[in-house]
Amino acid sequence: MKIETFTVETGATRRGELTALLLDAVAHGASIGFMAEITPAEAAAYWGGIFAEISDGTRVLLGAFDGAGRLTGAAQLALAARPNSRHRAEVQKLLVFHSARRHGVGSELMTRLETAARAHGRTLLFLDTSTGAAGAVKFYDRLGYTVAGSIPDWAANPDGRLVPNVIFYKRLG
Ligand SMILES: CC(C)(COP(=O)(O)OP(=O)(O)OC[C@H]1O[C@@H](n2cnc3c(N)ncnc32)[C@H](O)[C@@H]1OP(=O)(O)O)[C@@H](O)C(=O)NCCC(=O)NCCS
Repeated sequence: MKIETFTVETGATRRGELTALLLDAVAHGASIGFMAEITPAEAAAYWGGIFAEISDGTRVLLGAFDGAGRLTGAAQLALAARPNSRHRAEVQKLLVFHSARRHGVGSELMTRLETAARAHGRTLLFLDTSTGAAGAVKFYDRLGYTVAGSIPDWAANPDGRLVPNVIFYKRLG
């Protein structure tokens, strides 16, 4: 497995695979901001917004690749920009293709995201995930993240059902 940090240029060359990754996650029920009706054009447009934030230095996007060079997953770090928050970053959109799950891709992406966070001087990571996300709560627990709490009816699953989230944090030593 290879993990790479996307630049705007390398992201653009992989936009088709990134779009497919987002669509795959939603199709398999992930509550990641989109409903089941998401179109390929909407998914592609989402990545355009992410590339803009990579360009202005407020976001890190990592990609995981298999031995054949195919994208298997991706993860993001949103770097808090306010003067009082520059020790903090939010883990966002950790996505692994359904066909590639349970082979350590997600864990490796998180390890590398933590390395990237440290390199940006970030000592506190936080994230929220849907309680409906199969295995996500166990996944973050295993990686040493602490549950800060849960908010009912936080967001809709792709099928429209409102579900609570779980908020996690981790202090980077
Ligand atoms: C959550 C997600 C990123 C995990 O990726 P992954 O590559 O499958 O994770 P790993 O293989 O590194 O799993 C590490 C451990 O987490 C736990 N885990 C992961 N998925 C699990 C599941 N579906 N059910 C139970 N435990 C799970 C297991 O303990 C696993 O170890 P094991 O396979 O040896 O039992 C992936 O399922 C995914 O993309 N889900 C959809 C999007 C999402 O919910 N993202 C997170 C919130 S933004």
